[in-house]
Amino acid sequence: MQIPIIDLKRQHAIMKDELEEAFRRVLESGIFIYGQELESFEKEVAEYLGVKHAIGVGNGTDALILSLSAIGIKPGDEVITTPFTFFATAESIAQKGAVPVFVDIDDKTMNIDVEKIEEKITPKTKAILPVHIFGQGVKMEKILQIAQKYNLKVIEDTAQGIGAKRNGKSLGTFGDLGTFSFFPTKNLSCLGDGGLIVTNDDELAKKVRMLRVHGSPRKYYHQFLGYNSRLDALQAAFLRVKMKYIESWNKRRQEIASIYNEALKYIVRVPEVDEGNIHIYHQYTIRTEKRDQLVDFLRNKGIQVAIHYPIPLHLQPALSYLGYEEGDLPVAEKATKEVLSLPVFPELTEEEVNYIIDSIREFFKK
Ligand SMILES: Cc1ncc(COP(=O)(O)O)c(C=O)c1O
Repeated sequence: MQIPIIDLKRQHAIMKDELEEAFRRVLESGIFIYGQELESFEKEVAEYLGVKHAIGVGNGTDALILSLSAIGIKPGDEVITTPFTFFATAESIAQKGAVPVFVDIDDKTMNIDVEKIEEKITPKTKAILPVHIFGQGVKMEKILQIAQKYNLKVIEDTAQGIGAKRNGKSLGTFGDLGTFSFFPTKNLSCLGDGGLIVTNDDELAKKVRMLRVHGSPRKYYHQFLGYNSRLDALQAAFLRVKMKYIESWNKRRQEIASIYNEALKYIVRVPEVDEGNIHIYHQYTIRTEKRDQLVDFLRNKGIQVAIHYPIPLHLQPALSYLGYEEGDLPVAEKATKEVLSLPVFPELTEEEVNYIIDSIREFFKK
């Protein structure tokens, strides 16, 4: 058996006619930037998330960069974040000339350890940028409390968490701004690059809308330096089709996760969920000290697995100028040596799930 880590052909087969119809609609409209599709998508996704403003941008990385710009992050400012995430989180901070300040992670959820944030705050700290890793919420109530105490802004990197909730509230809607990615491997994806910024703050929304079009409130008038970063009309149209499925997809991910949990809980560390969280398992990530051998074994069995993430960001060569060393953030460093993500995409069949479980059991029996 050959099992991919994700199979978009299966997902798209179910809605081929709808996607083709969306393409036809945009083609015939002749409008490819802004327009009705983008406006409708922004309205629909804002409603889905329960937030006042949703603003489509070019990708999840731009969503972070535009958000940092919107809150006025400047060279030399410090932004507190997690070392256990995709590179873009810290890259966006560094691209603004600011300093990513890494706080170690919580061993249970692998999200930023909120108890260790305050000790990293300095007079230069301007914001906290938590990441809801793998689709599970950060302890936002604590983050908001710290932010209020020290007068900091909060941007939630929700690239992996659309549809997930904490205490009944959608992830991405707790802080000043929330960012999302619709990269093809995401649980809600377009057919290319796409991203989103959400906020309940009218002023920030206005600023982000200008930032995505060269700092311009009206044609050929530029109030400040901005970017060229919109969500294409075509991608918005595709996303409107896929939005109809997101709840059932997330539910199916949870179903697969609970089958894995039951079958694997005595042989590996299965994902642990914090009280109050609805985890959507953008990734189903287990932990074992025999990770590297298990990866080889599963790959030989035809099962594609992934390591999210093999190197913590504080040890990435591109950020070596920050001066971190091995041992500085031990919880994150240990996680990078043990994590392994199994296929969890919604179209995975029962037979495939069972094959993956049987293969893992076989490995641990040997
Ligand atoms: C946590 C996180 N932040 C940011 C990004 C960047 O998103 P994009 O690839 O759309 O730029 C991703 C995904 O790629 C991500 O997983």
